[in-house]
Amino acid sequence: MQNSTTIRCTMCGRRIKVQSQLDMPIFDPNTGFAVCKSCVKEINRYIEEDEQNTSAKTKRDFNANLGNLLAKNKPHVIKEYLDEFIIKQERAKKILSVAAYNHYKRMKYDMDHEGGEEEIDKSNVIIIGPTGSGKTAMISHLSKLLDIPFAVTDSSSLTEAGFVGSDVEIAVRNLYYAAGQNVEKAEHGIIYLDEFDKIARKSGENNSITADPGHEGVQQGLLKMLEGSVVEFTARGQRKHPEAPTIKVDTKNILFICGGAFVGIEKVIAQRLKKDNINIGFGAEVSAKEDDEKKFDELIHQVRPEDLMKYGILPEVIGRLPVICTLETLDENSLRKILTEPKNAPVKQYQKLLAMDNVELEFEENALLAVAKKAIERKTGARSLKGIIEDVMLDVMFELPKSDVKRKVIVTEDCIEKNSPPEVVQLEKN
Ligand SMILES: Nc1ncnc2c1ncn2[C@@H]1O[C@H](COP(=O)(O)OP(=O)(O)OP(=O)(O)O)[C@@H](O)[C@H]1O
Ligand SMILES: [Mg+2]
Repeated sequence: MQNSTTIRCTMCGRRIKVQSQLDMPIFDPNTGFAVCKSCVKEINRYIEEDEQNTSAKTKRDFNANLGNLLAKNKPHVIKEYLDEFIIKQERAKKILSVAAYNHYKRMKYDMDHEGGEEEIDKSNVIIIGPTGSGKTAMISHLSKLLDIPFAVTDSSSLTEAGFVGSDVEIAVRNLYYAAGQNVEKAEHGIIYLDEFDKIARKSGENNSITADPGHEGVQQGLLKMLEGSVVEFTARGQRKHPEAPTIKVDTKNILFICGGAFVGIEKVIAQRLKKDNINIGFGAEVSAKEDDEKKFDELIHQVRPEDLMKYGILPEVIGRLPVICTLETLDENSLRKILTEPKNAPVKQYQKLLAMDNVELEFEENALLAVAKKAIERKTGARSLKGIIEDVMLDVMFELPKSDVKRKVIVTEDCIEKNSPPEVVQLEKN
């Protein structure tokens, strides 16, 4: 664009004296297509207004639906749903059902008493349990039932603002994307902060002074977000710079669930109980391994905020996570059940897959027990079950589709323990 030429705006038809590109922000010298500054402003205003209208509508819709959501999802209904997928963890399922119900009740109360002074406190949850015991699975099913957006963010990837890595706002940004970039939907979703124990402040007790100070900063950064504040972040792929457009999300009605294995927390609990002279007596008749497990389960349910504090979570953070939910270790029997009982049980899934190739799949009871046993050895809870079955099924899944004949695959104990290939029985002649 030359200095001070006159160009006609294609939209309003006015001739504009153009001194800088800002006077005619859109201009194509080849076609002469041009849009002047005031037309661009007008378009922007129109878009903004439209977006505001849609956002107000989504909000109205959600609020209208809230009563519905509450009437449909009473705690016992939520628990029944979780029972379909999650084995054991009765107490945790109950706690979570009540917490979710209360969370939406609180929102309704707020809405019905808008402008009122009294508010019901948020029921953010901290969930503690060994790896592969169902923490993430439980919450993901919960969000599906409630039909609300849900995003998992790994706390160990978060850093204090200014450090290399992602700021705590990332957790809200992930939810915003899980909500299809809809701010209003995101504002009623669930954020799951996984590996929450990894941002525990390294206390003098079990760590050297070289432990990084960033973790405390992350916890500080989370404080406001947990309580409810407007969080601002840039779109994905956008560099953070002062002029970059930002998205604002209010976390007031977002349910935060912080989960972690908190390895070693049972020792902290035992220490406290010992100090308080509380007898934790365990029967001497059980084997050492069983004893350990039993001990863990009995202790973990007695966790108190001060234990978490000792573990390295800031008291202010614990104060904003009023609901403590604990999960037990899954024993062999529970792992065996997980293989076949949940709606999405791994064996059921393989049966569906093979049925598509005209193949029946049978796991003998001893094979199932062997899988559970193997999983116990791997010490990753239910997490390793799928992998163990997958190892056995790989060759079967590769070979079977070669023919269309109706067959039956039988997995025995030996397939699991000695890696022998499963037996294939032909059910009809080819
Ligand atoms: N109690 C359970 N009932 C049914 N399935 C379970 C249970 N616990 C775990 N699983 C299954 O095992 C897998 C791993 O579980 P999940 O991801 O929930 O573990 P986690 O407790 O979040 O572990 P981590 O601390 O390692 O994140 C999932 O596929 C889940 O479906
Ligand atoms: Mg998990």
